Amino acid sequence: MAELYNDNPTLEGLKKMDEARQGEVFEMPANDTASKLFYIESYGCQMNFNDSEVVASILAEDGFGPTRNMEIADLILINTCSIREKAEDTVRKRLRVFDKLKEERKGLVVGVLGCMAERLKKKFLEEERLVDIVVGPDAYRDLPNLVAGANEGDRGVNVLLSREETYADISPLRLGSNGVSAFISIMRGCDNMCSFCVVPFTRGRERSRNAFSVVAEAQDLVNKGYKEVTLLGQNVDSYKWENPETKEVVSFANLLEMVALVDPDLRVRFSTSHPKDITDEVLYTMKKYENICEYIHLPVQSGNSRILEKMNRTYDREWYKQKVDRIYEIMPDCAISSDIITGFCSETEEEHQETISIIEYSNYSMSYMFFYSERPGTLAARKYEDDIPLEVKKRRLNEVIRVQNAISLKHNQKDIGKVFKVLIEGDSKKSDQDFKGRNSQNKMFVFPKQDGLKAGDYTWVKVESVSSATMKGQIVEQP
Ligand code: 5AD
Ligand code: SF4
Repeated sequence: MAELYNDNPTLEGLKKMDEARQGEVFEMPANDTASKLFYIESYGCQMNFNDSEVVASILAEDGFGPTRNMEIADLILINTCSIREKAEDTVRKRLRVFDKLKEERKGLVVGVLGCMAERLKKKFLEEERLVDIVVGPDAYRDLPNLVAGANEGDRGVNVLLSREETYADISPLRLGSNGVSAFISIMRGCDNMCSFCVVPFTRGRERSRNAFSVVAEAQDLVNKGYKEVTLLGQNVDSYKWENPETKEVVSFANLLEMVALVDPDLRVRFSTSHPKDITDEVLYTMKKYENICEYIHLPVQSGNSRILEKMNRTYDREWYKQKVDRIYEIMPDCAISSDIITGFCSETEEEHQETISIIEYSNYSMSYMFFYSERPGTLAARKYEDDIPLEVKKRRLNEVIRVQNAISLKHNQKDIGKVFKVLIEGDSKKSDQDFKGRNSQNKMFVFPKQDGLKAGDYTWVKVESVSSATMKGQIVEQP
């Protein structure tokens, strides 16, 4: 989950805030038989990374094989994000790199996918001289046609948004996978209209995927040895799918249960929850099944009721606090994380302090924190002045990060001496003598390896020391 938004300043520390972080280049599964090769880079949220896996599957059907080396690719794709200006700047920088390759190599096709494609549409072809195709998030099935057209010299755009498309029948080609955890997209789009957010414009109306196709995908992953799935959507708690035959309606709580029942050894996570939509039914379902992780990403955005109203979040400070209380009441050990925006239009110092105090009140295990970035076309851009100076936004962000880091550290310190069930994900980044893995609360553990254990196994780890981001410990007997 740490890589949810890869323009997130908290991942690299504030110092590096202005440095563009590179998008993920997937570890590609080998395909020696393909005659044509594609290379794909992804930016933005987990949804986008999952979309790239759908794209890879569509291209594989069309005879394309994936490569990690853009120098030998016939097709270069960049799956883009529009959430903040910085995300878009990063993409433009990468396009300059691809431009160079394109100038050197005749026949190379470059395509822009995702949210930025949707936002800029045809303008992309005018602005970016060397881009051949522009494809929005609901038009990926059309990629083979568009690529074929580009090969004939036709530059193509398909940014049609759909009310139905969920790619339900497409089995994503798992790129860059550790073979242990995978994402399953359960819905697309968003109907929430938060005033700061570009997503409803780039990803269209909300629609839920066939519940049985979600369960089938989870089962398929289990058969392939996966041990963890994360159900993805912009607002998973408003998942709602009607079985066309029986007219039965499957809610998110129902879907969670269906996936949990696929295999008791398969961990189930989900993201993202909108505080207004998460129900007691979901909380009780989480409590009922040991394999549904006790972790909820519950973005607050601001701790002040006036700002929340301007953001069109549809809850206020008190309502949010009660939701947090309810979660801890039903699951005392549940970890909650958040998204926070500092310096939204007209935010005062006192209002900013209320964001700081809600971090303390909610006792978040971690947060993704951003300063407000006005996005063209959004409600806020049209209605409110972006009047908080950049230095103030950044200073407030810095304060929020400092408080969150202290809270995260305390949150982790409370776990010292405790033993947790950890799913091993692989070698730790720093040493191949250590494993890394996560517990149910989504905390990252690092611990010395033990013979006989491998990625995908569960083990028990006693916490010995912690930082604000990592738990260090030793493998122990199951308590
Ligand atoms: N400026 C800054 N942060 C934003 N987010 C969404 N839109 C903006 C914006 N215009 C943040 C929110 C959201 C997360 C995905 O990104 O916190 O939850
Ligand atoms: Fe970025 Fe939002 Fe699009 Fe994800 S849905 S890629 S976060 S703009």
